[in-house]
Amino acid sequence: MKVLTVGITGQFAALVVPELKKRGIAVRALIRDQRHAGIAFARGADETVLGNLENPGSLRNAAEGVDGIFHINPAFSPNEFDMGIAMLEAARAASVERFVFSGVIHPSILGLSNHAAKLPVEEVLYQSGMNFTVLQPAMFMQNFDRSWSDIVRRGRFALPYSVHARACYVDYRDVAEAAAIAFATNRLDYGTFELCAPGMLNRIEVAALMSEALDFPVKAGEISFDEWAHAAQLPSGPMRDGLRHLYEDYDRHGFPGGNALVLRAILEREPRTLRQYIQELAHSEEYQLLRAS
Ligand SMILES: NC(=O)c1ccc[n+]([C@@H]2O[C@H](COP(=O)([O-])OP(=O)(O)OC[C@H]3O[C@@H](n4cnc5c(N)ncnc54)[C@H](OP(=O)(O)O)[C@@H]3O)[C@@H](O)[C@H]2O)c1
Repeated sequence: MKVLTVGITGQFAALVVPELKKRGIAVRALIRDQRHAGIAFARGADETVLGNLENPGSLRNAAEGVDGIFHINPAFSPNEFDMGIAMLEAARAASVERFVFSGVIHPSILGLSNHAAKLPVEEVLYQSGMNFTVLQPAMFMQNFDRSWSDIVRRGRFALPYSVHARACYVDYRDVAEAAAIAFATNRLDYGTFELCAPGMLNRIEVAALMSEALDFPVKAGEISFDEWAHAAQLPSGPMRDGLRHLYEDYDRHGFPGGNALVLRAILEREPRTLRQYIQELAHSEEYQLLRAS
């Protein structure tokens, strides 16, 4: 079996590759720049193909001869919907059997563009006649990777929304495992699955997990969006606008979810928890180096 994977050069989809390889599935990586081929091979791709989600014509060749497609949309793209549809049409034209879509939990939250953009992609997928699996993950624990050094250095975990807002999380390695199960077995055929680790935590509780793992106090904080975006070196554009809106929404409603029933059933084990993830970060090589410096 061969699967075309989108997003191998990104932060998350690359985690799907080892899970596919473990199950004997060959990986063709979609890249939009030939200079990224080295990254794709280093991350386990067997072959690469050039294609751009913004150029539907370029996807036809990419989808030829594969048995399945793993699709994930780049975040906060103004044409996220068109990109999803372009990949679906290429899949259909190439008679691809299986399509696994890594979307988001609660695509029915129409007030958030990064959720709402995924709903019509799901709709077209359901109507496509292809064997589908829709994965709807919670907030990725891997988001912490980018800010971990800063948290460790400052003893402060600050974001631009209320410290009391509660959120649900998932380790993307668990999502990646679910995706690979969808290709390797028929257990997830024609299913849509909400994927969460158990429970919801607010930032005070997350900071307490960090303090426990690091063995020194980490305080939960709240900063303005502009201060946060400046520190994150986020240029102005759709992603910055989308995140501002997202954090305003989290401030009002949190990010509800956290029912682990489905993920537990898919993995046939307990999902990884945020406590475990933070423990891993605290014992990572990067942190050990930071502590020694
Ligand atoms: N972060 C979370 O907590 C969370 C939670 C639930 C769902 N999600 C969803 O997860 C998805 C992935 O998020 P992300 O963008 O942050 O992932 P990412 O890891 O930054 O990856 C983006 C990937 O898409 C590729 N890409 C971008 N534009 C492309 C194009 N026009 N054609 C082909 N490939 C293209 C990038 O390739 P290049 O290297 O060429 O740029 C990169 O490999 C989003 O849909 C988001 O809504 C995120």
